[in-house]
Amino acid sequence: MAKIPEHILNEIQDRSDIVEVISGYIPLRPAGRNFKTLCPFHHEKTPSFIVSPDKQIYHCFGCHSGGNVFNFVKEYEKIDFIDAVRMLAGKTGVKLPAYKKESREEDSFVGTVYSINDIAANFYSSLLERAPASSGVRRYVEKRGIEESVLKKFRVGCADASWSSLADYLLKRGVKIDMSLKAGLIQKGKQGSFYDLFRGRLIFPICDVRGRILGFGARVMDDSLPKYINSPETVIYKKSQHLYGLNFAKPHIREKGFAIITEGYLDVITSHQYGISNTISSLGTALTLEQIRLLRRYTHNVVMVYDADQAGEMATLRGLDLFLEEGMNVKVATLDKGHDPDSFIRKFGPRGFTTAIKKANSLFDYKLGLLNEKFTKDEPEQKAEIVKEMLLTIRKVRNSVIKAEYIKRLSQGLSIKEDAVWDELKKTKKKVRGYELRTTDDEPRTTISISPAEKILLKLMLEDVNVVNTVKNSLQPFDFKNPQIRHLVEALFGLDSEDSFIDATKLINYLEDRVAPNVISFIVNEEMDIKDKERNVSDCIRTIKKEQRCEELKDIQNRLILAQKNGFEDEAKNLLEQFSKLIKKGA
Ligand code: CTP
Ligand code: MN
Repeated sequence: MAKIPEHILNEIQDRSDIVEVISGYIPLRPAGRNFKTLCPFHHEKTPSFIVSPDKQIYHCFGCHSGGNVFNFVKEYEKIDFIDAVRMLAGKTGVKLPAYKKESREEDSFVGTVYSINDIAANFYSSLLERAPASSGVRRYVEKRGIEESVLKKFRVGCADASWSSLADYLLKRGVKIDMSLKAGLIQKGKQGSFYDLFRGRLIFPICDVRGRILGFGARVMDDSLPKYINSPETVIYKKSQHLYGLNFAKPHIREKGFAIITEGYLDVITSHQYGISNTISSLGTALTLEQIRLLRRYTHNVVMVYDADQAGEMATLRGLDLFLEEGMNVKVATLDKGHDPDSFIRKFGPRGFTTAIKKANSLFDYKLGLLNEKFTKDEPEQKAEIVKEMLLTIRKVRNSVIKAEYIKRLSQGLSIKEDAVWDELKKTKKKVRGYELRTTDDEPRTTISISPAEKILLKLMLEDVNVVNTVKNSLQPFDFKNPQIRHLVEALFGLDSEDSFIDATKLINYLEDRVAPNVISFIVNEEMDIKDKERNVSDCIRTIKKEQRCEELKDIQNRLILAQKNGFEDEAKNLLEQFSKLIKKGA
């Protein structure tokens, strides 16, 4: 990766305000001198995400993500560091030295896969463009009613029936065959031959939020099977991590305040064609945590519109519970039997679709409706089944008022005592723990191991250059146990004596790959109530020395045991001497 000079990073930093940048993504609430909010990087109920305007640093004390403004943008946008710098440079009007992005990315393997996808997309769309009106693909597109401009917008294309059109084309373009294989578009045949993965199909490029093509879906143009073939997973394409259409839908989702989630490519394309542009698709898969978190950057409100077939309704509902776990508000719209959003819009128009969306039920009502169809409410066992299923959902509702209201409605609907439902709720909590998904509340993602003495000392050093000088006279960098802290201490010890003020956010830029940004933000953003600074400093120095000595003693002890066990008497004698010397020194 091309390295951006530190002074440029610092300049961008000086011109941006971390509070302003972060609050552009998530709401921040003032808390004393700082700002606080629910962490966007892990699931939690009480805010442990702190942004400090003074220090220009953020830190989450739940999952320990943290750093400066670049680190935030990188993490939040899920982009490279260099792209985060680029974004902020653009916003602040700082000119970056001319790095050739293309050549940088082309050098890298990942960049090559992106560009192969791009070349392939152009190839497929030109085939569609050039196809005569009488061709099968043109007739199919006509039949599906997709407008020319929409085809272009979504870069829809087609693959012809040949076994090697794309393979030949890529070779002609100078793309190496092993790269085409890695992009997943070309497959290895028998006897060293190669063939195209997609043949005789309509091609839908799948993009990331920035519009870069990750992979493709390809539909047959008749009733043969399989209906769709998709790109295999590659270095850039992980099926369960993307939402089709999000690159176009994101501004509309923000504007309308909610997203419509459908199942298929054509559901998205048709919605957008008719101006319902906040529509995206999970591409047939049950929604995953990654997809929900991706969407959560743009809205907390979703309306699901599934195909009106029975296929896996309950399974789908389980997936919806995941939304609640992630603090999203979910509604479910139902369409007339046999329809999907695409066919529904074509039959009833965008108005009809919008009405169906407006009539969407809360997840609670939708699920209860389905269960009522499935079970009769006369038998106690059947009632119990309904309660059990509903509680799986209700227990995930974060808001206590809504939760209580749902329990009331559930018990009234089934004519049972509310207390009984509450009892059952308590039971599910215990039972379900064992197989709960990845996200448990407030579970730290990483831990940062720093002894309290090291932490306090670092904090004081970062705030006051005089402390650095005091510490320098008593400790060495290697007295600190954590290797990252050691680098940090080295950097602090190496500061110019002229420096009167330490800028932690610039230190992050300076230490770049030696010290993780969240280690620095962890120390800096921790609130400590320090009354007698000098005394604290000397206490910490003493503790660190003591800890250091303990480590050494332990080490000698271990070696001593080994030496004695193996009969190395000289070595043992030597170690014993060292041991007692150290003991005396500490006394
Ligand atoms: N899908 C898939 N592979 C399959 C079937 C489906 O990847 N073999 C995904 C596709 O993303 C598809 C979505 O699941 O768009 C929904 O499937 P389906 O409802 O069968 O297809 P539609 O997109 O609605 O296609 P059409 O309306 O043309 O039948
Ligand atoms: Mn469908």
